[in-house]
Amino acid sequence: MPIVNRIAEFHDEITAWRRDLHAHPETAFEERRTADLVAGKLAEWGIEVHRGLATTGVVGVLQGRRDNGRRIGLRADMDALHIREANAFAHRSRHDGKMHACGHDGHTAMLLGAARYLAETRNFDGTAYLIFQPAEENEGGGRVMVEEGLFEKFPAEAVYGLHNKPGLPVGEIAVRTGPAMAASDTFEITVSGQGTHAAMPDLGIDPVVIASQIVTALQTIVSRRSDAIDTVVVSVTQFHAGDTWNVVPAEAVLRGTTRTFKPALSERVEADIRRLAGGIAEANGGRAEVRYERRYPALVNSETESLLAARVAGEVVGAERVDAAADPRMGSEDFAFMLQARPGCYIWLGNGAEGGPDGCTLHNPSYDFNDEIAVIGASYWAKLVETALPKAD
Ligand code: NI
Repeated sequence: MPIVNRIAEFHDEITAWRRDLHAHPETAFEERRTADLVAGKLAEWGIEVHRGLATTGVVGVLQGRRDNGRRIGLRADMDALHIREANAFAHRSRHDGKMHACGHDGHTAMLLGAARYLAETRNFDGTAYLIFQPAEENEGGGRVMVEEGLFEKFPAEAVYGLHNKPGLPVGEIAVRTGPAMAASDTFEITVSGQGTHAAMPDLGIDPVVIASQIVTALQTIVSRRSDAIDTVVVSVTQFHAGDTWNVVPAEAVLRGTTRTFKPALSERVEADIRRLAGGIAEANGGRAEVRYERRYPALVNSETESLLAARVAGEVVGAERVDAAADPRMGSEDFAFMLQARPGCYIWLGNGAEGGPDGCTLHNPSYDFNDEIAVIGASYWAKLVETALPKAD
């Protein structure tokens, strides 16, 4: 079973929705125009629409031929990023400083494409919940939807997600059972010393030198403190201190992120950061205050649903184009919160071998979602509903 022919017939419309969304990117919890567009389309196709979960979330309730009590959820993220777009094509961002650089415009358009087909054909029994989620980037809109009662209001027995993947050829799909994307934590270390004239450092306590030692020491959390079999990343991404040439500042601030798959490792990494930062600061006569936050948990695909997702993917693109044992990735994804609440599976859909039409990675100012793959993604959603919620006859 290849792509769904009926969906291919309105590929041009899916592309038009996608480019319209691309031209009007909206960021976390401000996806009002996007939500209006989604809700308008769903209503136009006779799908029951619920709005307001996580402020701008939209859930479409699509009934099959009979209600047999079976229910699954399909989730698309709708938000854009704070990036100034570098592209010059006609559908480039009209909102300065905001951009769909992660392909969530494509994710939204593909789920709309599937919704239109499923509303037209209703070739399934049970209920499909079409979950359009705000604020995937940084702000955890998926967590907010779950906290605000997503699965109490829409009791899906399983929930599915997907993400386009630059670097994976068009027509290929990757799936992984078990931990597939890492947990993401953030940390902030404020090093307090004592400011002084730069010509007389002996009269102060230099937080720049202390913070520099902390940056170096944090590298040992991975190289000397972690079992070589475990997967841990510690990255210091910000180092702020001082305002001028001839003053030793009183304070330095470090910020960064850690990635792990096991909750126990996240706890140990936090303890290591606190001990190293505190100990090094103290040894130098300063102080370090550490804030550590757990942002997104690891994304873990359940076994039954992953096998189903891989089988359906194989029906759409051919089993030989499905990598059913893909490597895990160190990126993180707030669909993990939905997978903590319900079993399910999150797959990767090839966006093009060269990293998309422009050879770009996600979050790059020249990135664009590849419209060629929209029919594949929408067909996957449609076949997933028809397979997970089969008709009785
Ligand atoms: Ni994304």
